[in-house]
Amino acid sequence: MKKNLIITGLPGAGKGTQAERIIDKYGIPHISTGDMFRAAMKNETALGLEAKSFMDKGELVPDEVTNGIVKERLQEEDTKNGFLLDGFPRTMEQAVALDNIMTELGRQIDAVINIEVNPDVLMARLTGRLICRNCGATYHKLNHPPKVEGVCDRCGSTDLYQREDDKPETVENRIRINQEQSKPIIEFYSEKGLLHTLNGETEIEDLFQEVQDIIG
Ligand code: AP5
Ligand code: MG
Ligand code: ZN
Repeated sequence: MKKNLIITGLPGAGKGTQAERIIDKYGIPHISTGDMFRAAMKNETALGLEAKSFMDKGELVPDEVTNGIVKERLQEEDTKNGFLLDGFPRTMEQAVALDNIMTELGRQIDAVINIEVNPDVLMARLTGRLICRNCGATYHKLNHPPKVEGVCDRCGSTDLYQREDDKPETVENRIRINQEQSKPIIEFYSEKGLLHTLNGETEIEDLFQEVQDIIG
């Protein structure tokens, strides 16, 4: 089984949706830089305040900040038997930093799962997204509603919310910035023979089957 994983793709590609299934099945920790920043914002820490100024505009948080939190997280005990990085690396500088962190820790990335979705589809996905505040499960008002309206399938919470940065103006900015940054990263992992690109415009569970085939 491949256990040190990266899941990548443009905003709304379905990284978090697949991540939720991967961590439930394989029991590895989900390391989402976006989730870490949102948790820091909620707790109003210095990191949260800094991250908020970038996230609200759909911009990337500076590399030195992001690299620092990932490095710290990867040193924790629970990552020893594998981990799933979601939304990191997102710049070449981050990809290089991750390589260095892995070398320092005597580990290596086993696979990069790249979910490809046509940018036209992403706006509708993000503006219709609902997230469970309790467990992080992700839904879509039309594509993937919870079985009972307003109730999380995974944990039963009724606290489903829309993300601040899912407003149309911010979504446009996020997609543009991520498109610019992602190309060299995809090439970087392709050259290392680690890249697995999947068509993300299929049913969530069908896509998860393909993801499991990659992980092995
Ligand atoms: P982050 O939280 O990572 O957001 P993102 O990359 O913009 O991606 P999303 O979480 O919006 O999309 P997703 O791919 O997880 O899609 P999801 O599964 O939810 O980052 C947020 C911000 O934090 C960044 O803008 C930046 O400011 C900062 N940040 C984070 N990491 C950083 C880094 N490394 N460096 C610098 N800054 C960083 O699905 C979306 C919707 O589609 C849902 O409604 C879902 O139900 C639906 N859906 C999913 N799959 C399917 C399917 N197969 N078919 C139909 N609908 C589907
Ligand atoms: Mg996500
Ligand atoms: Zn839940």
